[in-house]
This record gives sequence, structure tokens and C-alpha cells, in this order.
Amino acid sequence: MVWHLTSYWKSLITPLFFCLLLQPPQTLPSITTKPNIVLLMADDLGIGDIGCYGNDTIRTPNIDRLAKEGVKLTQHIAAAPLCTPSRAAFLTGRYALRSGMDAINNYRVIFWNGGSGGLPPNETTFAKILQQQGYITGLIGKWHQGVNCESYNDHCHHPLNHGFGYFYGMPFTLISDCITTEPPEMDREFRRKLGLYTQMMALTTLTFALARLTGLISVGWKTVTCLAVFSFLFFASWFSSYGFIRYWNCIMMRNHEVTEQPMVTERTTSFILRESISFIGRNKHKPFLLFLSFLHSHTPLLTTEKFLGKSRHGLYGDNVEEMDWMVGRVLDALEKEGLKNTTLVYFASDHGGWLERQEGKRQLGGWNGIYRGGKAMGGWEGGIRVPGIFRWPGVLPANTVIDEPTSLMDIYPTVVHLAGGVVPQDRIIDGRDLMPLLQGKVQHSEHEFLFHYCGVHLHAVRWHQKDSGAIWKAHYVTPVFRPPGAGACYDRGYCPCFGEGVTHHDPPLLFDLSRDPAEAKPVTAETEPLFDTVIKKIRRATEEHRRTLTPVPDQLSTYNIIWKPWLQPCCGTFPFCWCDKEGDIKLTDL
Ligand SMILES: *[C@@H]1O[C@H](CO)[C@@H](O)[C@H](O)[C@H]1NC(C)=O
Ligand SMILES: *[C@@H]1O[C@H](CO)[C@@H](O)[C@H](O)[C@H]1NC(C)=O
Ligand SMILES: *[C@@H]1O[C@H](CO)[C@@H](O)[C@H](O)[C@H]1NC(C)=O
Repeated sequence: MVWHLTSYWKSLITPLFFCLLLQPPQTLPSITTKPNIVLLMADDLGIGDIGCYGNDTIRTPNIDRLAKEGVKLTQHIAAAPLCTPSRAAFLTGRYALRSGMDAINNYRVIFWNGGSGGLPPNETTFAKILQQQGYITGLIGKWHQGVNCESYNDHCHHPLNHGFGYFYGMPFTLISDCITTEPPEMDREFRRKLGLYTQMMALTTLTFALARLTGLISVGWKTVTCLAVFSFLFFASWFSSYGFIRYWNCIMMRNHEVTEQPMVTERTTSFILRESISFIGRNKHKPFLLFLSFLHSHTPLLTTEKFLGKSRHGLYGDNVEEMDWMVGRVLDALEKEGLKNTTLVYFASDHGGWLERQEGKRQLGGWNGIYRGGKAMGGWEGGIRVPGIFRWPGVLPANTVIDEPTSLMDIYPTVVHLAGGVVPQDRIIDGRDLMPLLQGKVQHSEHEFLFHYCGVHLHAVRWHQKDSGAIWKAHYVTPVFRPPGAGACYDRGYCPCFGEGVTHHDPPLLFDLSRDPAEAKPVTAETEPLFDTVIKKIRRATEEHRRTLTPVPDQLSTYNIIWKPWLQPCCGTFPFCWCDKEGDIKLTDL
């Protein structure tokens, strides 16, 4: 706030100076110039996967360098434990349920490029404000915030409709189905259900046809033909599901154009890196915002040969080390263009590592260090506490660690203010400007309370009691781990938010994270004299927060989630969607 006022004041007196002296002032400190902003976001990376957060066997020298030259946050919190809602909150600076981007049922992320849900066009992303402030804005990599509303190319949810002037990447997210050699994630479910219907239909048709032929019943051939057509359609969609998910979801786009359908996964990594470096190069003379949204380290862990078998943690470790190398290449590009001191670089993960993602004994999800729980769990720290690093040489201190609670939603007001913009006044913004904290001008984060949602269900609340330094966390709902004590929900692949798979706590489970960051042992009214006071305080804050929520259309409703042929982005004539518009490129070319 202090800084914001100063910059506002300066923006007022600068023209005045100019008029009076008829020469531009020469001594404005660098902070008043609009810095370039590079946001690096990993996918499903755990806080325990990174060297500077305590991992001593995965090699992440470039991310570690970023921390050494900047500020490392130890309590950086994602607003949701899954991609779609966490990224919606990140982009809008608001809890995902304010934009309708959090789950009301079991569909907790966007499932298809051909669905109708997505980030509503009337939400204002920070990219949009930066664009209005004269920034060149680009998104490279993963989006996962929807594509269309009503037709296959209205692109109402597309990055280009949300403030990004350039987009190259996946409108969806990486899934195992994108690689033909991997056991598919989505296909399995699909096949199981459709396969059953198909067989029933085929049997019915056959029965009717035989009965008709033998004269047992007198149904018309029309009926039999009808049934045959239906069976054929079911068969077709059943077979097509073997691999067709790849055609529907695993696509790459450049701006509004589909460039690869399905994507050629072998070269995706090099394309993403090439695009990022070229974006920096061609925009070095203007202030720019680059959001590099990695496909790493989400399964199926696309990794190029150069990194395969090189880490001590199997394919997952190889993939993380490759991502770190990409981070290094981007930092090198900034340095080479002479932009190091004029660029704010940020690194984070969208949420915690995915504990249940294993194949046999092989761990394919991330590692959340000492923190309990993981991806998909709204309350436990492992699902939401992520790495958070800022670097801006000369403006932010180097080699500094800050333990205050901060949120991924804080990026929004932070970059908006740096760009000289103002956050929207007609809605609630939950993020807070981080600059005063990062610069060491204030001791405490502005967040007193943070609310931890699982879908639209409030699972836990964090209270930072600033005078004592305690960080209380009350859990109202926790997932039931299976097998019991396993620390995750191995039987279902991820933990649910409501229903039989959760336990309700009244009074809530209470932890003081400043003394027990691993949430190992809850305090009770017997062991903690402040127990009742803390619970009461948190309850009041929650009621107040609840009053600020207003109903909005559910973007993840069943209707919005399901695949609709007329919304499918298609390179060609539907249903023959196939293209490859990219030449070949090797990593060594870079
Ligand atoms: C480092 O990361 C790997 C892979 O996620 C994990 O298995 C290992 O336990 C981590 N090591 C430490 C010390 O956290
Ligand atoms: C960049 O900032 C650092 C740290 O303040 C300073 O030592 C260095 O000289 C600066 N480099 C340039 C090119 O201004
Ligand atoms: C966007 O539109 C929806 C539906 O009309 C409305 O409920 C919501 O409040 C609007 N959001 C904003 C930020 O204006």
C-alpha cells in the first residue's frame, strides 16, 4: 500500500515536473518503470520436489538460483487443490467459487475441450489489465480454463479473450491419453461404460433381427434398421474412444488456430521452450507479460531423451529436472537480452503433488515434503502449500526467506499495481499486493484469514494471529484416507470433497502450523488454553467471508462439463479433425 501510494503520487507529479522544467526527470528509481513480468507455473509439482525447499536428490539448480537471487516464500498457498479452480483463482485474484470455477459435484476440473464451461468472459484477468496498461501479453503452455460457449470457434473462454495477446499451447491439460504408449487415464472409464451399452444394443438388434427372420414377431424392418443404426453409432463411438480422446483433447493451438490435432508429444517440450524464448526476444523493447505455464510435471511426464534415466527418482525426477533446465534457458534468455534487472520473475506450482498417482511401486506424482496430504485435498497442507519464488534484482532483496502466509491470488494485485493499473472496483479481489512484504517494508502479510475450499465445500480456515506469530488452521472437513492411515485415497485415485469419503469435525481439528507444520497432532481444549477463543474468532471470520459470496453460474455443472460435438475445436471437417501444421524441430536446434 505504501509503495502503491508513492507510485501514484509520482505519476501525478511527473507531468508537472515536465511542464515546469521542460525536461524529463532523470532520477526516478527503477520501480516506477513498468517491469517485464515472467510467471513460471509448474503443473502438479510438489513443494518437496525442489532443491531450495529441501530436496537433496532432485537437481533443480536453476530454480535454486532464482531463490538465491530473490525471495523465497515458505508459506505460499494455492487457492484450490486442483488445476482448473486453482488457475482460475490465480488469473482472477479471487477464490474460484466467485467465478463459478469450483466444483459443485464430482466434476472438479474441465474434462473436454468440447465442453461449455470455462473462465467466464466477464471475469477480468490480470493479463487483461496489463494489456490495457500497454503490456504485450503472452501465454505459453497449459490453459485448462475452457474454450467455447456456443459454437466450435466462438472462443469465449480462450486465452485471447482473457487478455493474452498471444497464445501457444494446450487449451486443455496433459493427460496420459495423449501418449499412445501409456495406459490411458480418461479412456478407461469411457470404454468401460460405453462398452457395456454397445454390447447391449448389439444383442438387442441381433435378437430382433433373428426374431423377425424366423417370423416369431412382426416388428417392421424399420425398427430393426433403426436399432442397427443405433448399435453402429454406439460401436463407432466405443471404438473411436480408443484413441479419439487424444484427438479431442490433446491438441495444440497458436492463437485461434489449431496447429496439431492430435499433438506430437515428442516435440512439445522443444516447441514450448522455443516459443518462450522467441516471445522474450521479439518483445524485449516493450514491457511484456509472459505466463509460461508448464506441462511439466503432470503425467504422462513428457520427457526428452536428454533427460531420460538421468535423475535418481525415475521418470518423475527426470521430468522435474528437465523443467528446471527449461527454467534455466528462460533465465538465460532474459540475461542475454539484458532484461535481468527489469524483469520480475515468479515461480510456483498450481497445487501440491499427486500422491495417488503410482504405477506399481513407481511414484508418478509429486512429493510434498513434510506436509500432510496432496493434490485434490482442499484442507491438508500438502495439497495447497507450493513453492513460491520472486526475483527482481535491485528491487527485491536477494537470498531472502519469508515465512508469512501468502496466496497465489496475490500475484493479481501485485502485477496490476506494478503495471500502473488498478484492480477492478466492482468485485471482491481476494489477493493482496505482495510488493511491500517482498521488499521488506512491512513485516506481515496482509492476509489474516485464508479459506481452503475443496470444490465449493469449505474444508479448512487458516488464521494468522499476527501479534503472537501463531498460524492456526481449523479443519471442518477432512478426507477419509484409504487404506486408513495411508495419507491419501489410493482406492479412488484422489480424495473426494463431500459425501461418504469425508469426515466432518465439530469442534474442528485445530493445529498451530507455526509449531506443527506437518499437522501431526491437533491441539484440544485441554492442551491449548486459547482453543475456544481461536475457534470463535475463525468462525466469525468465516461467517463474514460467507456473506461476501454471491451465487454465479456453475461452470463445472454436469451440462457444462459434458462433451458436445458442436463445441469441439477441430482442424478439418468434423468429425475428421486431424492436422499437423508444424515442421519438425530438434532440441539441439535451440
Ligand atoms: C525428493 O523428491 C523425490 C521425488 O519426488 C522424493 O521421492 C524424495 O523423497 C525427495 N527428497 C526429499 C529429501 O525430500
Ligand atoms: C543489476 O542489479 C544488480 C543488483 O542491484 C547490480 O549489481 C547490477 O549492476 C545491475 N546490472 C545492471 C546491468 O544494471
Ligand atoms: C458475470 O456474469 C454472471 C452471470 O450473469 C454474474 O452472476 C456475475 O456476477 C458476473 N461477474 C462479474 C465479475 O461481473
